[in-house]
Amino acid sequence: MSQFFFTLTNPEATLLLKKEMSIGYPNFKLSYSRGGFLTFKAENATTFLPWMCRLSGICLGKVPLEEIKALPKAWLWKRVESFEPPSELIELSEKSLFKIGEKVTLIMMIGPEEYWLGEYVLKKTHFQTPGEVSSIEKRETPSRAYYKIAEAHEAFDLPMEQQEKVLELGSAPGGASLFLLDQDLQVFGVDPAEMDKNILKNYNFKHIKKAFETLNVTNFGEDIDWIVSDVNLPPSVVMNEVDRFLTFLEPRGVVLTLKLHQDRYLRMLKPIVESFKQKGFTQVELKYLPSYRQEICLIALR
Ligand SMILES: C[S@@+](CC[C@H](N)C(=O)[O-])C[C@H]1O[C@@H](n2cnc3c(N)ncnc32)[C@H](O)[C@@H]1O
Repeated sequence: MSQFFFTLTNPEATLLLKKEMSIGYPNFKLSYSRGGFLTFKAENATTFLPWMCRLSGICLGKVPLEEIKALPKAWLWKRVESFEPPSELIELSEKSLFKIGEKVTLIMMIGPEEYWLGEYVLKKTHFQTPGEVSSIEKRETPSRAYYKIAEAHEAFDLPMEQQEKVLELGSAPGGASLFLLDQDLQVFGVDPAEMDKNILKNYNFKHIKKAFETLNVTNFGEDIDWIVSDVNLPPSVVMNEVDRFLTFLEPRGVVLTLKLHQDRYLRMLKPIVESFKQKGFTQVELKYLPSYRQEICLIALR
């Protein structure tokens, strides 16, 4: 039986998503696509959970507005922020609540008068917003990395406790550090580059102004609870360093943004997940976050 599926992704990840589909879902054929909205057709498909998208689910097709207006409960997502849907749809979306485990009906406004319907089961790691749009408030930050770690924290409900110690590999200029310090964590930021001056003023921040490969067990007199990293290096290089740190540190969690600047890096993801599981991490997950470009978040928790 043929079935259709939808994905919502960020424009920067569209090619990666197509590549992932060709590797991981070879029997899925691209059907209709329009700027960040891609649908696929497959025969007898069972699972469909690609990584390189904010959201995926079953696609019920293009539906006339009158039918959409009659829905009892649905969330509304707009492909383009400036689209102006009828007020009934905005009201319907605002009053519709979905619980974890429930099937969400998603109205996808693809053009000014073009509506598609999708369905997906709401998971704990989903954002509680139509179309998985970030709910993190915009503010002045040293870098975009602030939003990335804030979104990872929200999506995975990271169990970070006040005054726990975080080792941040590649911390300059300090977007992620800002978020971590705001959570009342102690941050050891490793980076030969300059940190934002306000981050340096925070008494919970220590700048280790070195390349991380020069650090070893002698640099750590105390335990580290978390390793966090978002560096512009291939996943294999990041993993070599993380593995090396894991020979002398025992963090309870690792949060990595892995850059996928080449599509061949996609093939590294499953082995990376497996390697964390073999090291005793019980929850290991990948998620494409709303503020992401060509990258993916990996969390590993003991
Ligand atoms: C994308 S930026 C990191 C953004 C940062 N996490 C933030 O929150 O603002 C990448 C950083 O990695 C650092 N980096 C690259 N190679 C490194 C290495 N071998 N050791 C330490 N830092 C490194 C760079 O200096 C750069 O500041």
